[in-house]
Amino acid sequence: MAEFRLPKNSRIRKGRHFAAPDGADKVRRFAVYRYDPDSGDNPRVDTYEVEIDSCGPMVLDALIKIKNEIDPTLTFRRSCREGICGSCAMNIDGGNTLACTRAIDSVRGDVKIYPLPHMPVVKDLVPDLSNFYAQYASIKPWLQSRTPPPPDQERLQSKQDQELINEPAACILCACCSTSCPSYWWNSDRYLGPAALLAAYRWLVDSRDDATGERLDELEDPFRLYRCHTIMNCTQTCPKGLNPASAIAETKKMLAERKY
Ligand code: SF4
Ligand code: SF4
Ligand code: FES
Repeated sequence: MAEFRLPKNSRIRKGRHFAAPDGADKVRRFAVYRYDPDSGDNPRVDTYEVEIDSCGPMVLDALIKIKNEIDPTLTFRRSCREGICGSCAMNIDGGNTLACTRAIDSVRGDVKIYPLPHMPVVKDLVPDLSNFYAQYASIKPWLQSRTPPPPDQERLQSKQDQELINEPAACILCACCSTSCPSYWWNSDRYLGPAALLAAYRWLVDSRDDATGERLDELEDPFRLYRCHTIMNCTQTCPKGLNPASAIAETKKMLAERKY
């Protein structure tokens, strides 16, 4: 196995190397970003050789094996292992995705694993998502209705109306899209980013919601919405196959043809 090399001029240090046990068969190497802001040290990349025959098929399986059997100090988030909770989002082989749904076999050569880009790092592969969640909360992601609910049943929708919210409601808030968006990298303090805007759109098109005008007022801002320049990284990277760029374009159209 050729030696792992960092790109030229990288400010990340080459870290520790954990070799596979003697006689190990079918070994894959994982190059993993390590950073502890409390230590005062620069980030580094540690490399771990993992025997793949005794490991599950996904990148998350390898991380769990590394933590359990090789290096318990490695820190990452995960919960469902099913692509549902969104907590294992990270940058694998240069793209943002979920570690639990990305197969090790789909990566050629060393499996390079970094935290989601352009976010403060809490430790290793754990980004600080406080701003991301605050932006989600800012779009008021709940039903705002001016009529009381029917006394004896739920608020019903037609099948067609329900289909409008199907896709945006499938977002798992993993942050892969927002952290792949160059506009969000540079303006995440003022631009809401594709995940929060997809959530906003989900409520804009909900036939049961009566706050469409107020929601559009909140979005009509050169930064909150209009920093999207249709670069499409968000849609390309979404591990759930959603299309936040299209939702943003539809929201801009609603504002241009505003009836509320
Ligand atoms: S739109 Fe996709 S990438 Fe973005 S937060 Fe939702 S599930 Fe994740
Ligand atoms: S389409 Fe908009 S939100 Fe998506 S990556 Fe491009 S600028 Fe960001
Ligand atoms: S662990 Fe829940 S999405 Fe990967």
